[in-house]
Amino acid sequence: MFERVAMVTGGIGELGRSICERLTRQGCRVAALDIALTTNGDDGRGWQAGLAREGRDIALIAGDVTDFDSCAHAVARAESELGPVDILVNCAGITRDASLGKLDKGGWDAVLATNLDSVFNVTKHVIDGMTQRGFGRIVNISSLNGVKGQFGQTNYSAAKAGMHGFTMALAREVARKGVTVNTVSPGYMNTRMVEAVPRGILDRIVEEIPVGRLGDTREIAALVGFLCSDEAAFITGANYSINGGHHMH
Ligand code: CAA
Repeated sequence: MFERVAMVTGGIGELGRSICERLTRQGCRVAALDIALTTNGDDGRGWQAGLAREGRDIALIAGDVTDFDSCAHAVARAESELGPVDILVNCAGITRDASLGKLDKGGWDAVLATNLDSVFNVTKHVIDGMTQRGFGRIVNISSLNGVKGQFGQTNYSAAKAGMHGFTMALAREVARKGVTVNTVSPGYMNTRMVEAVPRGILDRIVEEIPVGRLGDTREIAALVGFLCSDEAAFITGANYSINGGHHMH
């Protein structure tokens, strides 16, 4: 158990929730940052209340990871409610799948802004505090498709590969200050994002997974939880595949 403050972007998405839950179970006070808190019906309050009944507190922070100033406000709010952010999990992400011939500028820009610019926009507001305090854990949630490329995902694969470039560069900058930076690259999971892939295509994808099923978000969260722990101090600049054997390299 460790008393740390964690912020998870995309924190009320399916993977984000699993990561928040995992970190609270490890003793963290957690802020879930999500644009959905302002834009759609599920404001996460039911989920928050359920966890609170188990004695696990999550702060819900509305914010737009594509907007640098919005991220500054979100981090300031999290820090005033919970304390300095020790752990950041950059998990916010979207898809706009289309082969390049059909992909419009909006579909490129939205995916690059949400999946890659976001990593700069949020990390920038926590990194100096982490290095000054001599402790920090940053985990960037990338994708199998950032490692191997995927038909219909020039935007997403580029953004997800870019995240790991950021990871490796920043890991070198902050390694001596007690801050680790790692990438986790999940494969296909049982989330709405994956279920949006047309049925026939998804069935063929699942056939390619040696484990023979989609992943569970809690399986990803367990790995993220470990990378955020004090024990993971010697792991930095790494990219962890967690994909049921879908792509081995
Ligand atoms: N590989 C090779 N060829 C393919 C293909 C594939 N995966 N998919 C389609 N094609 C071929 C078709 O057979 C067709 O060929 P012909 O022209 O010879 O008939 C041609 O490409 C069709 O091309 P289109 O651009 O017209 O394709 P489309 O518009 O029908 O569909 C698509 C494109 C929407 C991207 C669709 O292929 C698709 O949904 N693919 C899955 C993308 C995917 O895996 N997304 C993952 C989302 S979840 C996620 O991203 C989470 C994570 O991190 C893992």
